Amino acid sequence: MVKICCIGAGYVGGPTMAVIALKCPEIEVVVVDIAAPRINAWNSDHLPIYEPGLDDVVKQCRGKNLFFSTDVEKHVAEADIVFVSVNTPTKTQGLGAGKAADLTYWESAARMIADVSKSDKIVVEKSTVPVKTAEAIERILTHNRKGINFTILSNPEFLAEGTAIADLFKPDRVLIGGRETPEGQKAIHSLKSVYAHWVPEDRILCTNLWSAELSKLAANAFLAQRISSVNAMSALCEATGADVSQVSHSIGTDSRIGPKFLNASVGFGGSCFQKDILNLVYICECNGLPEVANYWKQVIKVNDYQKMRFVNRVVSSMFNTVSGKKIAVLGFAFKKDTGDTRETPAIDVCKGLLGDKAKLSIYDPQVTEDQIMRDLAMKKFDWDHPAHLQPLSPTSNKQVSVVWDAYEAIKDAHGICVMTEWDEFKNLDYQKVYDSMQKPAFIFDGRNVVDVNKLREIGFIVYSIGKPLDSWLKDMPAVA
Ligand code: UDX
Ligand code: ADP
Repeated sequence: MVKICCIGAGYVGGPTMAVIALKCPEIEVVVVDIAAPRINAWNSDHLPIYEPGLDDVVKQCRGKNLFFSTDVEKHVAEADIVFVSVNTPTKTQGLGAGKAADLTYWESAARMIADVSKSDKIVVEKSTVPVKTAEAIERILTHNRKGINFTILSNPEFLAEGTAIADLFKPDRVLIGGRETPEGQKAIHSLKSVYAHWVPEDRILCTNLWSAELSKLAANAFLAQRISSVNAMSALCEATGADVSQVSHSIGTDSRIGPKFLNASVGFGGSCFQKDILNLVYICECNGLPEVANYWKQVIKVNDYQKMRFVNRVVSSMFNTVSGKKIAVLGFAFKKDTGDTRETPAIDVCKGLLGDKAKLSIYDPQVTEDQIMRDLAMKKFDWDHPAHLQPLSPTSNKQVSVVWDAYEAIKDAHGICVMTEWDEFKNLDYQKVYDSMQKPAFIFDGRNVVDVNKLREIGFIVYSIGKPLDSWLKDMPAVA
């Protein structure tokens, strides 16, 4: 029986391994992690991550051929294929601070694999890492190998949160990169045969190591670039009276451009986009390509600009001050159908409003109070460390309250900021909402989910990203 072990029971490792176990009943899959609370949660009825369809998959295989354990060394020692899906934070100190990936967790995982292994292994890079990480890992493994053969592969993950299970069931492609040596090709073949249980062969792309690593960074950079492009257009739409949804639709019908990933928003978030682009920028700089680095850097700058532009709209519309005013924040996750808050634009928007002394009442159907308070207290980039190495939860912030109901968050508020496109925000009883708010009642829609005309009829002053401005807002331009 083939044994697979995955180091790191996070957003990538958990769902990916659960689907491999489901689709390959004759393979034993063990997911290991140093974080005991996380493993306990995977073994309970309340999984540590919210992902539609995941519960079902885990229930079907857990205890049969899918296991979660903190006994990292034992399961790594027994495995034929070891996936590594550990944290790769952006460095905050030293060489490459603010850009380069910190490979501490990767390196310690690699050293541990070399240490405990008693049989040959395929080691698969699953977390996004800078190009040429595989080479570094390969060196650590081969210099410590005690006669054991390690073959390294890069198998980047393309799943998106909220649709992870569907993406894993029916991936656009699976990418496997390996050395162009007989051992490398043999390892590629072994991993390919795992995915071939459910993925059509023509969707399994095999490349060299560097291409696989770079493709992941490139794919995320291209996706993020589309969002920054449409967000840059949204600022111009507001200035000219064009409607960004109409512009997106028009350009998206060009089959060369395509309709996806053209929704203007308060900005992109998530654990990958910013981190991967920073990595890309760093690699370009290290390779003496400052023009290329600057080109990609701009994608992040526009994203930061979009978040600040939103805060400025809120403050300038409300008579240039939100000091002491209650603002309801609807949604905190970086997108709908996930409880994940990593790099969510809500963090920067909330921090911006708190900087202007607003009182925030935050509601998200999937994010806990503890998480929100941690996020608002944490320094940039600190989120991407294992839970027990993150700063402790601070004492509660008096300007922030977290509630479990949208109407509760909104009651007596001066303004509402929609930060996540949860479906329930489309269907609130907006007359009831209006009646419970201070007047004039403002709503700032960072996700273009509300029905602007209906809300204006009720009496709201509405700001929607990239849409023709309310006459109120026209008189109070936001300077970014
Ligand atoms: C992304 C990639 O899609 C995935 O392939 C990769 O493996 C990991 O990174 P994810 O971060 O889960 O996945 O979410 P994604 O759906 O890509 O959204 C990222 C951010 O962009 C979200 O904040 C989302 O709200 C925002 N977004 C997306 C927009 O603002 N507009 C859009 O049109 C699409
Ligand atoms: P991703 O979104 O890439 O899956 P996460 O941060 O959700 O990232 O998951 C990474 C996981 O890796 C965390 O649960 C962390 O505890 C775990 N981890 C980090 N280093 C190690 C290690 N050396 N051994 C085992 N698990 C590790």
